[in-house]
Amino acid sequence: MKLFLIFASMLSISFVSCTKDIGPNPDLIVKTSNACDTITFTKHILPIFNSECVICHSAGGQNPELSNYTLIKTQVDGGRIKARVIDGPSFMPASGRLPDNQINLIKCWLDAGAPNN
Ligand code: HEC
Repeated sequence: MKLFLIFASMLSISFVSCTKDIGPNPDLIVKTSNACDTITFTKHILPIFNSECVICHSAGGQNPELSNYTLIKTQVDGGRIKARVIDGPSFMPASGRLPDNQINLIKCWLDAGAPNN
């Protein structure tokens, strides 16, 4: 009987430590990390196009021109920004993929419907 009690308490200890390993409640993660909410075209997205794309995609340069909202939105609507920045297989800029943080910003913005904000 004594041995059984010791065994039972060991079991419950290991059970407690197992439940601790699960980590934070996933519901809370979703609520606290909705960083997409703060992303705007003017503050986050246009600067990426200006520094990473317009060097080639400017007026008189490589088609399509990507230097303002209307021009960029036309490519978004045709699925070309998602294809060339996020999905591949042939990525832009031509030198390789954008860094993950910039790809994530563009993903957030596209998921929000590519607003002009
Ligand atoms: C070093 C020059 C260069 C840079 C920088 C560059 N591109 Fe391009 N881009 C090209 C060339 C060359 C083509 C035509 C060949 C091709 O499609 O791969 C092209 C074609 C495109 C096209 C049209 C073809 C299609 O698939 O619809 C899109 C859209 C595009 N680029 C998006 C971008 C975006 C977005 C960026 C910035 C993240 C970017 N590009 C940066 C050179 C560049």
